[in-house]
Amino acid sequence: MDFRFNFFPDEDGSKEPSAHRETEPCSPTREHQDKRLAETKVCIKAAKEHHIPADVSKVLENKVLETASGLYYVNMSVVELTCQDGAHEEDIVSKSVSSHSDLIPGVYEGGLKIWECTYDLMDFLSEAEIQFANKTVLDLGCGAGLLGIVALRGNAEEVHFQDYNSTVIEEITMPNVVANCINAGNKADSEDDGKNIKPPSKRRKKSECLPDKLTKCRFFSGGWSEVCQLLLSSSKPCSKYDLILTSETIYNPDYYGALHDTLAQLLAKNGRVYLASKVHYFGVGGGTYLFEKFLEERKVFRSSTVKEVEEGLKRFILEIAFKDST
Ligand SMILES: C[S@@+](CC[C@H](N)C(=O)[O-])C[C@H]1O[C@@H](n2cnc3c(N)ncnc32)[C@H](O)[C@@H]1O
Repeated sequence: MDFRFNFFPDEDGSKEPSAHRETEPCSPTREHQDKRLAETKVCIKAAKEHHIPADVSKVLENKVLETASGLYYVNMSVVELTCQDGAHEEDIVSKSVSSHSDLIPGVYEGGLKIWECTYDLMDFLSEAEIQFANKTVLDLGCGAGLLGIVALRGNAEEVHFQDYNSTVIEEITMPNVVANCINAGNKADSEDDGKNIKPPSKRRKKSECLPDKLTKCRFFSGGWSEVCQLLLSSSKPCSKYDLILTSETIYNPDYYGALHDTLAQLLAKNGRVYLASKVHYFGVGGGTYLFEKFLEERKVFRSSTVKEVEEGLKRFILEIAFKDST
């Protein structure tokens, strides 16, 4: 099955997020705190940290690697095939297939495929020579995690990856990061783009250390507010991020509050967010102008357009910083 590039409203035709079909119950406290969410019966997805197994080769089991823009990534069709047997409780592959959609609000948020603004942001980071060395970076709504992998390649001090869906983190993000770290010496050649590459055949022994770059990575799944709380209360607390990279994450205006507050709580005082987005997301309603307006109204951040892409539906890269930052 190919993933579709469309956003469909939920089966009942409503634009509101659907009732969450996962197992985590809504806490009564949260229901009281947020009347609107309670009314629409949206549950928030609990946050979880995913650890890299000691035997790192397990992460690439049953995976077929491809390359794009000089990076390795797992073939999504193979992942779809191996995930249709109920391997994951979320069951997002079957749900996405049966609802004919790349997006099921509150259930599956689109991370199984690579969206085009990711490539816009990768181009921008390279053109603008954004420096990652010694910086802490968050790839927010990471999906395949290519932005975080670029930061890792640029010698970031630490890179964290967040996606709504645990299946995405386990089946796509972590394998991609591992594939690029294991193959760190041999940058995927752009001439290889689209070709299938064999995963490294040599199994690492359990006792073997993780490749150095992998020790700089942490992986999280769950809703933005929940992941934010987990990060801030973690027994292994992280410093705030110098850079937050995020692509195609502002399609749903219902999530703007959670996204805004997460950025506000996790960005370092003089940090920068680079956000890539289409001008408008038909069927869901969000887009660049609406998010900029939201930022203006909240009066916490300033934002400016640093790149526009004119081909097809217009796309933008925004640079966002605290109003009082240098
Ligand atoms: C359309 S996908 C984009 C994936 C990737 N950044 C790309 O450009 O290919 C949107 C991503 O945002 C994340 N996301 C959207 N809404 C979210 C929410 N309310 N809480 C947490 N993550 C969310 C999902 O994890 C999803 O992977």
